[in-house]
Amino acid sequence: MTLLIDDIGELLTNDGPPLSNAAVLVDGERIGWVGPSAKAPAADRRVGVDGAAVLPGFVDSHAHLVFAGDRAAEFAARMAGEPYTGGGIRTTVAATRAASDNDLRRNVTRLVTEARRQGTTTIETKSGYGLSVDDEARSLRIARELTAETTFLGAHVVPAGVDPDAYVDLVRGPMLAACAAYAKWVDVFVERGAFDAEQAREILIAGAKLGLGLRVHANQLGPGPGVRLAVELGAASADHCTHLSDSDVDALAGSPTVATLLPGAEFSTRSAYPDARRLIDAGVTVALATDCNPGSSYTSSMPFCIALAVREMKMTPTEAVHAATAGGARALRRDDVGVLRAGARADLIVLDAPSHLHLAYRPGVPLIRTVLHNGVLQ
Ligand code: NIG
Ligand code: FE
Repeated sequence: MTLLIDDIGELLTNDGPPLSNAAVLVDGERIGWVGPSAKAPAADRRVGVDGAAVLPGFVDSHAHLVFAGDRAAEFAARMAGEPYTGGGIRTTVAATRAASDNDLRRNVTRLVTEARRQGTTTIETKSGYGLSVDDEARSLRIARELTAETTFLGAHVVPAGVDPDAYVDLVRGPMLAACAAYAKWVDVFVERGAFDAEQAREILIAGAKLGLGLRVHANQLGPGPGVRLAVELGAASADHCTHLSDSDVDALAGSPTVATLLPGAEFSTRSAYPDARRLIDAGVTVALATDCNPGSSYTSSMPFCIALAVREMKMTPTEAVHAATAGGARALRRDDVGVLRAGARADLIVLDAPSHLHLAYRPGVPLIRTVLHNGVLQ
């Protein structure tokens, strides 16, 4: 079954310059063809979109969706002047451990659906609110029901009352062994108060030995060794990158490690934003993602993150949309999403707007008219 999406005013493919008066042929789950309307092939069905903009679905490469409860009161306290410390993670751990499998499943499903309505067609999600062998494994088992991009984050924080060295041994030993079957990636929160570089290195290397790809929560709350460790170990992505030295930027620029920026976190913690301009100008590949979690960034909206990146991080609208699509795909080492070309997944969005610029130009406005995921209308 083929479908021709025609009368596209602006087609962003991430595979060459934008096209006008364009069309896309969807062939089952894949893109069959893209090009000018005048040259469009025959199809079983044709839909005109009346001059609207079409682009790849968003690739949200960093989220924490498996949790129970919320922390609205903590957010309100921050907006009244309290700092963010990450200490609230333990509140969510307690709620998550107390939740049933079905409660967790319902919450992840709700958030994935919410994200999809806002144009996200690929979403990564981490564990990290279980912090026991069983709770981490079930978090990933449930996440895996909804996405292939699952990340083991047993090393989120050391649970209350547990010896840090004993916890690192648990994470890189039995916990990793129980989780690896449900995870594609392993991540560590490298930060003062969470894990240091040596602890992180042990956990990441243990994960790599089991075939997991590497990601690092790096330099979020202050300067530190996270970015350099991510680059040294060949991680796919260093995430947050808010507090960077010149040598961190140089290390990223000379590496395939993507800098994933999460402006929802700075928004929701009322912190200074990372300097995307500095990274892009140095030649670093940048991704934008939501960091959706109940503590530091309770948004599932990639359009919101694009608008923040443009207004607060000195990205151009085109750079921000690229980072939210192709950048996310690079951060997940995927070449079948974040791009519209023959053979890629048929994951695309039709905007209620003539151009991708409107995603930042009209912040807060629901511009996602249609979402196609694996060729299926959502
Ligand atoms: O990416 N930095 C660590 N983890 C999350 C926050 C988790 C929380 O506050 O619950 C983050 O921002
Ligand atoms: Fe995060």
